[in-house]
Amino acid sequence: MRLVPILVEPIIPEGSFGGADQPVIEVSRSVSLRPWDGGDAAAVVDAFQDPLIQKWHVRRPDSVEEAAGWIERWQSEWHKESGAHWAVVDPSSNLLFGRIGLKAIDLYDGTAELVYWMAVSARGRGVCSNSVKAVSRWAFDDMTFNRIELEHSVDNAASCRVAGKAGFQFEGTRRRSARHADGWHDMHVHSLIRGDLNEG
Ligand SMILES: CC(C)(COP(=O)(O)OP(=O)(O)OC[C@H]1O[C@@H](n2cnc3c(N)ncnc32)[C@H](O)[C@@H]1OP(=O)(O)O)[C@@H](O)C(=O)NCCC(=O)NCCS
Repeated sequence: MRLVPILVEPIIPEGSFGGADQPVIEVSRSVSLRPWDGGDAAAVVDAFQDPLIQKWHVRRPDSVEEAAGWIERWQSEWHKESGAHWAVVDPSSNLLFGRIGLKAIDLYDGTAELVYWMAVSARGRGVCSNSVKAVSRWAFDDMTFNRIELEHSVDNAASCRVAGKAGFQFEGTRRRSARHADGWHDMHVHSLIRGDLNEG
């Protein structure tokens, strides 16, 4: 069978990042993004005890083994160049603050979807929005991404605020487009495209 040829080159050339070690990204003196480690599994399970994290995510690891499997998948996506996932930590104590990542990376269009959660004790002091800004700078300044998309339920006001604080533009509402454990949700779509960070 002959493949139908594609008429465009990938915006992110294959091999741009997956062959190299995943970088540690310094967000501030007290917040770092580092590659996931199998030893983070117990802290992931702890974070998912929070009802709000359970409300806004459709999966919940119930054991350290399940969380370790998740972490392995996040690590492997870096090498396949299909995802880039970081643990958000306190660099001095290695305490896990949360998760931030780019999933569904499309090398041709240079697009990805941003995902995050923060442990209850880390919330309300800008850890998430500053981490979003840092990942966006990596994607646009160090890499050649074209667009990062962020989606959240219209009922998730904190996530909407994070998007705004990090400079993402609101694009609209996708009606009844995601199902959480409590049923269907209309979803807000926000995006950051190449050049947005250098404007204004
Ligand atoms: C959303 C989440 C990641 C934000 O993390 P965070 O580190 O607290 O975020 P930041 O401190 O950078 O910003 C949060 C902003 O939301 C605001 N906020 C928090 N709860 C809010 C609410 N119920 N309604 C409106 N605004 C709210 C905060 O006041 C803050 O804005 P401000 O700095 O202008 O005061 C965190 O709350 C979380 O993990 N929630 C549960 C899981 C989740 O929602 N994941 C995202 C799925 S799309």
